[in-house]
Amino acid sequence: MPTDDGIWTLVVHGGARFILEQDRARFAAGCAEAARVGGDVLARGGRAIDAVETAVRVLEDLPDFNAGTGSVRNVAGIVEMDAAVMDGETLAIGGVGAIRDVRHPVSVARAMLDETPILLVGDGAGQFAEHIGAEPADAGSIPASGGCDTVGCIARDQSGHVAAAGSTGGLEGKMAGRVGDTPLPGCGLYADDRAGAAALSGEGESIARGMLAAHILFALPDSGPLAAAQMAIARLGRTGGEAGAIVLDPDGGFGIAHNSEQFSVAVAAHWLDAPRAGTHADDLREWFT
Ligand code: GLY
Repeated sequence: MPTDDGIWTLVVHGGARFILEQDRARFAAGCAEAARVGGDVLARGGRAIDAVETAVRVLEDLPDFNAGTGSVRNVAGIVEMDAAVMDGETLAIGGVGAIRDVRHPVSVARAMLDETPILLVGDGAGQFAEHIGAEPADAGSIPASGGCDTVGCIARDQSGHVAAAGSTGGLEGKMAGRVGDTPLPGCGLYADDRAGAAALSGEGESIARGMLAAHILFALPDSGPLAAAQMAIARLGRTGGEAGAIVLDPDGGFGIAHNSEQFSVAVAAHWLDAPRAGTHADDLREWFT
């Protein structure tokens, strides 16, 4: 594995969903800001696992996105969030499901990396958040306007390590206690230094039934990031559902695919002077590998 080879890439997404035309620039700008902040971690020689958490925290604080502050409510009118992080160097995974009342679920998931369990849900996740002193949610937060979306990030750092993270309020009006694909390894995300990293957004039940992240990782070495992302989205033909995938190979090449009308995305990389962002895969296509 190379060490400090100067190569780094970070890709974020803000959710696979329809976005009104007048809102698209704002969604792209939010993703660009998350990519800039996460990319700065990598540019300074920081770790991929720190960069993905940092980028997702930015999106969790922006009310347009269905994660953290902007999380939608369940059928009982309560915010229950899912989040996960995965370290491609160690294959360590931390996840929380149906967690309430925290500002940054992704950071609670990050703290789980030091624990034996890979996923805590409901009251158990809440007790763990309290135990680590997680910052409480702002009581005045306003849910994002519907749609099924999630925020996520994948990164490759200058030491050749990859990581993935995701965070979501889930589906608006979902059953209480429902956990989607986001904290399920091989479904909403996966990261392995030997193959690459992937993060998904969209209808969690469809993503989980198709094991989309797992299929991406299996395809990556032979297919490359773009074809692997496209193959995963094509699997939705069997389950139905809308989704988007961001995919990274171990050398920092990336690809994006979705069957939703829009998918807000951004990339930052050592070979770009500033992050590039858009609300459709085609907006970044010229930089795909
Ligand atoms: N992909 C987010 C969810 O279904 O919960």
